[in-house]
Amino acid sequence: MHTFDESYFDAGLDRRGTRCEKWDGTEKESVLPLWVADMDFPSPPEVAEAIAVRALHPTYGYTLVLPDDTRALSSFWQRRHNLTIQDEWVMMIPCVVTGIRLALLALTKPGDGVMIQSPVYGPFRFSVEATERRLMDAPLKRDDAGRYSMDLDAVEKQLQAGAKALVLCNPHNPVSRAWKREELQALIDLLARYGAYLIADEIHADFVYAPEQFVPVLSLAQKNVLSLCAASKTFNLAGLEQAAMLVPDEAVRAKINTEMERAGVRSGNLFALEGTRAAYEYGDAWLDGLMRYLDGNRKHLTALVKQELPQAVLTPMEATYLGWLDLRAYGMNCEELMARTLKHGVQFTEGTFFGEGGEGFLRVNIGCPRRNITEGIHRLKEALDEAVEEKAHGVD
Ligand SMILES: Cc1ncc(COP(=O)(O)O)c(C=O)c1O
Repeated sequence: MHTFDESYFDAGLDRRGTRCEKWDGTEKESVLPLWVADMDFPSPPEVAEAIAVRALHPTYGYTLVLPDDTRALSSFWQRRHNLTIQDEWVMMIPCVVTGIRLALLALTKPGDGVMIQSPVYGPFRFSVEATERRLMDAPLKRDDAGRYSMDLDAVEKQLQAGAKALVLCNPHNPVSRAWKREELQALIDLLARYGAYLIADEIHADFVYAPEQFVPVLSLAQKNVLSLCAASKTFNLAGLEQAAMLVPDEAVRAKINTEMERAGVRSGNLFALEGTRAAYEYGDAWLDGLMRYLDGNRKHLTALVKQELPQAVLTPMEATYLGWLDLRAYGMNCEELMARTLKHGVQFTEGTFFGEGGEGFLRVNIGCPRRNITEGIHRLKEALDEAVEEKAHGVD
């Protein structure tokens, strides 16, 4: 029996040599990786047990997706987010980004305008481009404290200019917003007035800090709206490649089904199904412990930034384990920031991955033992101090 307390998450784990993109994909072993969005904690123990039990049955033929797989997902969403999901809404897919692309292919035509709200997770932009739709940005607004909000006037302008769909990040990566009911409702009403689709990526649903709350878009509207979700971010299972689309609108579902048939996309990885079901069924205590720990991490990061980097602005973290750090006061673009921080042994995600509005920003992954945040910010400070010093002395 485990206790998912601070010491459990403080322990972390060595991930090198496990095909781990975050740790094995860094340039040098000495670099501390605080970039790609996964966490340096063990997944809930029941996940490894479920996969191991199945692995010991020594043959791995074609797999049945069972009604229990769908039910595990829907009862988790009922428990955690108070959303009732009908079995027929659930379409299993390998990855959330696959789902975004399928939705774009199914619901829009080549050349159609698709909105994003930058700065936002880069693959939204890449998905619009790869499917040969027209990228239409309705950038978020930012206040002096670094808090972001939706610009509905910008959304309406793009709708008037012909946008057919919006890809929403709820909660938002990288600006850590847990969108409020009123904000989502206003957006949904606006899209509905123009008959545009809402494709909501809700992969970060479980990472919202009290007193904020996650509001599922499907609790507000179900026509022309779909949600993409996964246990992969919540329980650190991204390597398993298992996600789902929740599609209450029958007409939308039919179009997506056609597109899935056409592309031959199907989901049914044996180990992914075993691991995902175990996480949804048995992961609650682990997830509660994780959220307490991450809440401590976000407070730690906030205090560290204030103390060590007085010129930086950390966007208030309402959600996700990803901090959005404005370093523009130090006068460097992302290319220089990345080169200097790597030289000092820490890797963040460059702000421009999230669009032009991210120039001069870095994203900090705090899904790790707290001491790694301390070390990462310490290395960042060294890099920035060195840059300030060199610039003062005219060294390029
Ligand atoms: C908003 C968002 N959507 C999707 C993903 C990736 O999901 P998947 O690996 O299932 O495509 C991420 C990963 O960081 C993300 O932050």
